[in-house]
Amino acid sequence: MKYFIITGASKGLGEGIAMELLHEDHHLLCISRSESEQLKTMAAAKNCQVDFFQFDLAFNQDIPRLCQLIFEKIDTDQAEGIYLINNAGVVKPVDRVENCPPEEVESHLRINLLAPMLLSGEFIRHTKDLAIEKRILNISSGAAQNPYYGWSSYCTGKAGIDMFSRCIATEQEGQDHPVEAMGVAPGIIDTEMQSSIRQTTEKQFIHRQKFVELKESGQLIPPTLAGKKLASLLLSADFKNGAIIDIRESY
Ligand SMILES: NC(=O)c1ccc[n+]([C@@H]2O[C@H](COP(=O)([O-])OP(=O)(O)OC[C@H]3O[C@@H](n4cnc5c(N)ncnc54)[C@H](OP(=O)(O)O)[C@@H]3O)[C@@H](O)[C@H]2O)c1
Repeated sequence: MKYFIITGASKGLGEGIAMELLHEDHHLLCISRSESEQLKTMAAAKNCQVDFFQFDLAFNQDIPRLCQLIFEKIDTDQAEGIYLINNAGVVKPVDRVENCPPEEVESHLRINLLAPMLLSGEFIRHTKDLAIEKRILNISSGAAQNPYYGWSSYCTGKAGIDMFSRCIATEQEGQDHPVEAMGVAPGIIDTEMQSSIRQTTEKQFIHRQKFVELKESGQLIPPTLAGKKLASLLLSADFKNGAIIDIRESY
């Protein structure tokens, strides 16, 4: 049995990845505030166990307890592989930093940066003695490498995630049973996050029109397609410990 802990599988890219992982030898453990009925229906049809943990990742202090509950569901004696996909994320607040409400900046970094760090720490702790495949896939963005006017929280969080993936890789090298970690920028995907970007104003986000045009010209990647790419990378020999890659050119 392979176990997949996936954040943000209730919609968008996370749901697309989870759909691809539905298999009778897989068990999906999904963390988000809401659940995907479509994913649950398809999982039942494919005889794949899916558990949803309704949890707000902004509540960082409760993450160790959440992980305790998740690992109670994992039969480590039977596990062939355990995977963590840090996918959940938000884009707001979108505006010049001096106009962003401090509580929104704080909540953003709790969800996009601190939660993946704490989940990864718990994941490594719970699996450290297991001689099986253990991988962490951190969903990054082109915004990790390029500053965007109005996206200071988002760019900073994603840049942090990239460095965090590299730090895990460094720390795990030479361990008896290492965990591998990788960061992947998935390209521009047709999800609710994109719709919320189009709902901003030019004043808040000067590149807004470019994102409107990408949608109108049909250039956004369907989450199912991106999910297929990422699920296949996660389980393949191309998963390279410490690598940070951008797959936008590969569609
Ligand atoms: N869309 C793009 O073009 C694009 C491009 C590059 C990178 N990405 C990255 O891809 C990832 C997924 O984005 P998406 O476009 O699929 O966004 P989305 O459609 O808005 O979905 C976001 C997911 O994150 C979960 N989430 C958000 N806040 C949460 C919280 N406080 N606690 C728990 N779960 C939370 C949501 O679940 P609930 O609402 O049910 O809690 C949802 O499942 C993000 O890391 C994003 O930065 C997206």
